[in-house]
Amino acid sequence: MATLKLTNLVKRFDDVVAVDHIDLDVADGEFVTLLGPSGCGKTTTLRTIAGFYYPDEGEVYFGDKIMNNVPPNKRDTAMCFQSYALFPHMSVWDNISFGLKMRKIPSSEQRGKIERVMEMLSLSELGKRKPGQLSGGQQQRVALARSIVTEPEVLLFDEPLSNLDAKLRVQVRVEIREMQKRLGTTAIYVTHDQDEALAISDRIVIMKQGRIEQIGDPYTIYRHPETRFVAGFIGMANIFDGVVLEVEGTRCTVQAPFGKLFINAEGQEVPHKGATIHFSWRPEDMKIRDRASTNQITGKVLQAVFMGDITDLFIEVNGQKMRAQSDDEAKIVAGDSVSFGIAEHAFSILRG
Ligand SMILES: Nc1ncnc2c1ncn2[C@@H]1O[C@H](COP(=O)(O)OP(=O)(O)OP(=O)(O)O)[C@@H](O)[C@H]1O
Ligand SMILES: [Mg+2]
Repeated sequence: MATLKLTNLVKRFDDVVAVDHIDLDVADGEFVTLLGPSGCGKTTTLRTIAGFYYPDEGEVYFGDKIMNNVPPNKRDTAMCFQSYALFPHMSVWDNISFGLKMRKIPSSEQRGKIERVMEMLSLSELGKRKPGQLSGGQQQRVALARSIVTEPEVLLFDEPLSNLDAKLRVQVRVEIREMQKRLGTTAIYVTHDQDEALAISDRIVIMKQGRIEQIGDPYTIYRHPETRFVAGFIGMANIFDGVVLEVEGTRCTVQAPFGKLFINAEGQEVPHKGATIHFSWRPEDMKIRDRASTNQITGKVLQAVFMGDITDLFIEVNGQKMRAQSDDEAKIVAGDSVSFGIAEHAFSILRG
């Protein structure tokens, strides 16, 4: 079983605590993404799993085996980097077979494995070419083929798509995910692209300054951020403070700087009357000209940015600025006064 467990993991560089007491349990065959701003410790965590760094504290387990002192080449992991580092003088075929040769896999077995991986990643026609004769996306797929051909128990990806253009990124990420599912390999994927994280992961780990802020499936991370940091980091969010005036069951009346709101905290920790809370909601939760919701907000449009399928709106409500969205046919322009409804369940109550 390729379960992976990090317990109380710490990695320091002099006085920098790059990984600061991390606990993480990854199931066999699970696809987990580490997401967070530059310098939050994603690469260091990945390299510690791979064995390129030894932890200062805590443990790395594969299954029930402690790996702390096992060198990288004995760990049955494969790492796929941003710079794919193919051997330029070798053909695609030889690049892919390299890891098998290093592992002394008999050549009779090599052929079948290589052909299967090349087929899977649509590389079958390109075996004789050199990396310099391939497009960026094709090179990236060769790098992927090279990491998976050895059938590692754990695949580690460090921003493997950041050299690709937007369309190819989407195409290759779908390929990565399908391939990982087909092989049943456990995968840890690092990115700072939130769309990529939402699209590809079973679970997302949001990191900040070496620590884990929140772990959850993409839906939970997006719809129910637990902290200000997570709400602000993933997608667009309106984040405000307010005072709880009344609480009835899970339904709270909140005085926000722009007006009174009803927030239903069902499924969340219900705040006490009199408490000051931080809360957030998404621009798309603001339903234009929706008169049915109990929360009615009327704002002046400061800026309207047409995005094709939707229009991004920046509005001002009683001196407070917030983001909204419209998929309405009617054209909205700066200066318009527009009303919105927000459902009582749309809000997340945030810690810190
Ligand atoms: N070899 C090293 N020596 C000293 N400090 C390091 C080393 N590697 C990383 N750090 C520091 O550790 C912290 C975490 O770095 P890390 O590379 O893990 O971040 P990251 O989340 O991968 O960032 P990015 O998104 O920019 O790749 C940073 O403060 C970084 O400066
Ligand atoms: Mg990094």
